[in-house]
Amino acid sequence: MGHAEFTLRDQVDARRISLDEYWMPFTPNREFKADPRMIVRAEGMYFWNDRGEKLIDASSGLFCCAAGHGRKEIAEAVGRQLLELDFTAPFLRAHPKQFELATRIAELTPGDLNRIFFCNSGSESVESAMKVALAYHQARGQGGRNVFVSRDRAYHGVNFGGVSLSGLANNRRKYGPGLPGIAHMRHTHIRENFFVPGEGEHGAKLAEDLARIVAMYGAENVAACFVEPIAGSTGVLVPPKGYLKRLREICDQHGILLVFDEVITGWGRTGQAFAAQSFDVTPDMITMAKAVTNGAQPMGVVAVSERIHDTIMAAAPEGAIEFFHGYTYSGHPAACAAGLATLDIYRRDGLFERGRALSPYFLDALFSLRDLPVVTDIRGYGMLGALDVAVDGAPGKRGHLLQKKLFDNGLHLKTTGDAAIVAPPLIAEKSHVDRIVEVLRKTLAAL
Ligand SMILES: Cc1ncc(COP(=O)(O)O)c(C=O)c1O
Repeated sequence: MGHAEFTLRDQVDARRISLDEYWMPFTPNREFKADPRMIVRAEGMYFWNDRGEKLIDASSGLFCCAAGHGRKEIAEAVGRQLLELDFTAPFLRAHPKQFELATRIAELTPGDLNRIFFCNSGSESVESAMKVALAYHQARGQGGRNVFVSRDRAYHGVNFGGVSLSGLANNRRKYGPGLPGIAHMRHTHIRENFFVPGEGEHGAKLAEDLARIVAMYGAENVAACFVEPIAGSTGVLVPPKGYLKRLREICDQHGILLVFDEVITGWGRTGQAFAAQSFDVTPDMITMAKAVTNGAQPMGVVAVSERIHDTIMAAAPEGAIEFFHGYTYSGHPAACAAGLATLDIYRRDGLFERGRALSPYFLDALFSLRDLPVVTDIRGYGMLGALDVAVDGAPGKRGHLLQKKLFDNGLHLKTTGDAAIVAPPLIAEKSHVDRIVEVLRKTLAAL
């Protein structure tokens, strides 16, 4: 029995609760419950476990807490909001903070992506964007366009639309064939770009997969192409130079919508508000979540181009509901209050600029691990990086062990398969980066 288990069990006994009832998501439940790793407190760059030990947070929770943990301004804004207006129906009713937050988000989105639809998670933002795409094409008399294009190794959340777009076998294989009419491009993780920071020189031609898919299905049948500008969850696949621009060209040529899923890359992670701006490619929609509220409240957002929005509006008769979609908690007052307080912090503390300034130091530090024999690739852009460890027997086994050992050595980060993803809060100092890389080195060397 580990010490942590003893501590947790102690609390469990005292409170007469058990570990059995809570079914944990994306977790080996039986393994976890036999040896739990609990988090009980967070502040700034740190978590504390139930033994009172401090862990540095190298993945902003789960890419959510860009402004660091325990931000008083956000907590107080949420508390105030709940006391003033806890809830109002989002259909046929509204509260002022929905409009205020939508306006503030639109100030930061690129191009004319100025129409803001609220939901409650990244997964819901993807479903919502898929529906917007279909509704748009119907509204402009091209209702035959219902094929979606995505990419191998893509992660677009866990609902059926997003799972159908997904290119991760484990997320799909138990759940049937998914939506019909989804085609996948190849991913861009190619050997020529291994250990290259930023955008690799090789692989822009992989964008031609989109042209091939369009030729195969017929442009008149293709609704939208969904990509994460940097594929995050799968292990930070930075696009090759010119790749996203080429996707944009092909979409423009054929009347296909380009959707950037910026659930991870949004909100300063790449040095600008959105990766769209960092890579200078404006999509037709951006999906986002996580850091929009600094993780303090669930919220998802779709930023939609005015052209798409206006087309859908114009197609509906005056007085009719134009878009039959929405959630009970769309634009929840507490989430909007959290979002506004978060955006205030980003602006006041210049966190996007701060992340941009720290990025070269962060990437140099991460890439310094390349001499370790167990490390087979390192990638990174902005304040988002990843390294792969050599497969040991079954894929994912060594990555899982790494994640547990890092936790025990005082470092929290997210692993996917054999990739460890590093995305510290944008409040990080150089000394935090040093500490993260020091623990990584020590743990990887002993793996
Ligand atoms: C690109 C992308 N899309 C969608 C999602 C799903 O977000 P959520 O877990 O909030 O549903 C994620 C989550 O990591 C993501 O990285």
